[in-house]
Amino acid sequence: MSEKFISISEAIKQNKGKVAIRGWIYRERGSNEFKFLVIRDSSDIIQCVLKKEKFKKQWEDIDKLQIEASLEIIGQIKEDKRAPTGYEISAEKINIVGLSESFPINKDLNEELLGDRRHLWLRSRKMTAILKIRSTIFGAIHEYFRKNNFYEYQSPIFQSVQCEGGSTLFSVPYFGQKGVFLAQTWQLYAEPAIFSLEKIYTIAPSFRAEKSKTSRHLTEYWHAEMEVAWANFEDILFYGEELIKHIVKKVLDENKEELKILERDVKKLEPVINKKFVRMTYTEALKLLKEKANMNIEWGKDLRTIEEDKLSSMFDVPIMITNYPKIVKAFYMKEDSKDKKVVHGVDFIAPEGYGEIIGGSERESDIEKIKKNLIEMGEDPANYEFYLDTRKYGSIPHGGFGLGVERVIAWICGLDTIKDAIPFPRTMTRWKP
Ligand code: 4AD
Ligand code: MG
Repeated sequence: MSEKFISISEAIKQNKGKVAIRGWIYRERGSNEFKFLVIRDSSDIIQCVLKKEKFKKQWEDIDKLQIEASLEIIGQIKEDKRAPTGYEISAEKINIVGLSESFPINKDLNEELLGDRRHLWLRSRKMTAILKIRSTIFGAIHEYFRKNNFYEYQSPIFQSVQCEGGSTLFSVPYFGQKGVFLAQTWQLYAEPAIFSLEKIYTIAPSFRAEKSKTSRHLTEYWHAEMEVAWANFEDILFYGEELIKHIVKKVLDENKEELKILERDVKKLEPVINKKFVRMTYTEALKLLKEKANMNIEWGKDLRTIEEDKLSSMFDVPIMITNYPKIVKAFYMKEDSKDKKVVHGVDFIAPEGYGEIIGGSERESDIEKIKKNLIEMGEDPANYEFYLDTRKYGSIPHGGFGLGVERVIAWICGLDTIKDAIPFPRTMTRWKP
């Protein structure tokens, strides 16, 4: 057919007259005289009705069509209240492009089988809606940083140092060499670059050998990170809050349909763009947990999922928890000059129990403190020489953060698990297909 094909949503917008669409069979049912095909494309779904008497020659093939066969259809579109999206195409021509075998996806598949068939499950309306929102979020992150004069900058993925602790580090075989790891973060390779570009960001995969099976951990996730020269702790908090607001606003503007398909209650997202985020220190967080939830956490213990979830249930906006004990945080975080037991680090905790979405800090400027911290965690400072040079040649106050993109997607979409926030999730037990 040499027609000008339009998307299903464009056809619905046109609402009358002749249209040519193409897509895949989403649902089908037939009788002696009719075949009803609901067709889907990336934009929407629409019911098409084929009358047997119009398609005498092709009927045998039409009658055998199965879900996911690909088709081109030309016909007249008109409003029909009974059809799934309120419109129906009365088909005049059909071209069968690709037949489909019996499609191995149905409601009864357990999580394991659905995981094996992930490549086919991507076609579901749920995954299509999530992937569209994911695309908006990636776009919004680029837009935010570029609008604020950040340069996009890339770190290597094969790295010779750890940054976020040895326990989640992936070692990789590298021509018989030892000490080669997949990036946990771009950070140690980003700090040297602010002496060149001052304000930088990236969106790249990060790798964590997470041995736990939770609804918020992946072994490969997309990490939006930023690093800024001449910045203090307040600047880092400011950028984090603004970025999250920008992302949520963009999705609320551009993905109303998708949020509806996912049955997301958008009322729960609106406060995030309209209200200031809640801010408290780690010590204040412990006090709140004790007073409001009768949870007694010993000062110096990291906040666990249950504590973060409890805190998040008390507010309808993200919480910025600051001034963590030095012992629970990374070696590069700046020690508070007034209270040496705490650092200028922050975790942004998402509402509704979606956990930590941003981790960031002002960076330690004292090279001796950094070396001491490294030695205390069993690292050899000699391996970090390139990093330590950032504190030797014109050191400046600076800081940055990392945002877990799938955590943000899972929260905005209201997903049960982070695994649905990425097309092919990787976890301890899943690396196929
Ligand atoms: O808090 P993290 O470990 O911080 C860093 O990596 C810093 N170097 C970032 C920086 O300052 N440039 O990780 C940052 C964020 C977390 O807040 C979380 O949202 C996400 O990355 N994250 C994960 N997301 C999915 N699966 C995992 N296993 C994750 N681990 C961390
Ligand atoms: Mg963290």
